[in-house]
Amino acid sequence: MDLGLRFWLSGLKNFLLGRSKPASMYYRPLEGNVQEYKLPDPLEFPDGSTVKTRGDWMERRRPEILEMFEENVYGKVPEGARARDHEIVDKKDGALDGLAIRKQVSIFLAPGKPQPILNLLIYLPRDVVKAKKNVPVFLGLNFVGNHTINDDTGIFMHEKYFPEGMLRGTPYSQSRGLRSWRWPVTSILDQGFGLATAFCGDVVPDRKDGLSRGIHPHYCREGQGQREPDDWGAIAAWAWGLSQAMNYLEGDGDVDATKVAVFGHSRLGKTALWAAAMDQRFAMAIANDSGCGGAALSRRRFGETVRAINESFPHWFCKNFREYNGREDALPVDQHMLLALIAPRPVYVASAQKDFWADPHGEFLSVLHANRVYKFLETTGFPAKDMPPFNQPVFARMGYHVRRGRHDMTLFDWKAYISFARKHFSKKTTKNA
Ligand code: GCU
Repeated sequence: MDLGLRFWLSGLKNFLLGRSKPASMYYRPLEGNVQEYKLPDPLEFPDGSTVKTRGDWMERRRPEILEMFEENVYGKVPEGARARDHEIVDKKDGALDGLAIRKQVSIFLAPGKPQPILNLLIYLPRDVVKAKKNVPVFLGLNFVGNHTINDDTGIFMHEKYFPEGMLRGTPYSQSRGLRSWRWPVTSILDQGFGLATAFCGDVVPDRKDGLSRGIHPHYCREGQGQREPDDWGAIAAWAWGLSQAMNYLEGDGDVDATKVAVFGHSRLGKTALWAAAMDQRFAMAIANDSGCGGAALSRRRFGETVRAINESFPHWFCKNFREYNGREDALPVDQHMLLALIAPRPVYVASAQKDFWADPHGEFLSVLHANRVYKFLETTGFPAKDMPPFNQPVFARMGYHVRRGRHDMTLFDWKAYISFARKHFSKKTTKNA
């Protein structure tokens, strides 16, 4: 059955069962903990004048907001940082029981050096490619290695540094397919999409000492000892890694590089949003349970706060972000402006009911506030005013759902993303719908 129809039917079922209350009612008892706050207006210049034309937004206000995020939140990518060479190290026609074409590509992240390498794993639907079509692709990083997304024994294993506890006691040698529940590869291929992924630790190991072990030392200025206050953190480097993968995808004739949806879960959802903000070649962005530093509004200080995230993960953001520990109101930006940077391209934000740490309501409000920019750019934006009931995706140019359950990325989430991508990547959908 068509996915859109399936969602419509499940919406109808929920309605008939009287389960159609906005999810915000569930969070209301907790809202008393949120102090009053005032968000910066994405459509207002610092001198108080307003953005009046599309040109004002694209050429003046958007770059200004991007720079504020670079300087105060994620940090700046060093000028000229770019991977130049790659090597296709594996190509298998008929992987996954004949369903897929599998490719593995080594992308050399520092020109002229054999390391570090971003190992990109790509699965494409074989029948679509054989029909001489190039395919739209979901591109996202993974937490613990390409081999954990599926038990396909053809996926190379690359032993790397992990954050403590990531494998939860499983020996590395037995970790094939360990995270496969988050990666429904066959469902994605069945719907005519490709999937490309790489391990975030190929760019920067996700550990407090990660910045000295990944890409950073290869692009530091001469004589530079320490990270400058506005130098890139791990999230900016991971996002940059996604752009290096995109450079490869642009040259792969089996891929439709005008239809690459960048996605990620949690810390990698924060990364996907920042990647789409920095690199406008990404045609769509999807952030699953991205929380603080992702889609959630920082000024709400609900769940994870700026101080909490900087103290637990000092390597994720630039050092300047620490200036806002306990001072969220002083930030020149908030996360609705990150979503606005993606406009007019389609963006989807998803939360999970019990994921209080990521502030589901704050993630939703971010969508609503960014909607002003989507509307200003004459797209359909977001088609609702309140948080939809649990498990009921709502989308036009912007999408949102809050899934029942906990912090995770499940088949339910994927079905919504596939539906969203089908809508926007189909020829029938008009440019701004
Ligand atoms: C921690 C962190 C979150 C992050 C999450 C994850 O909970 O505090 O900011 O999103 O890990 O990446 O799973």
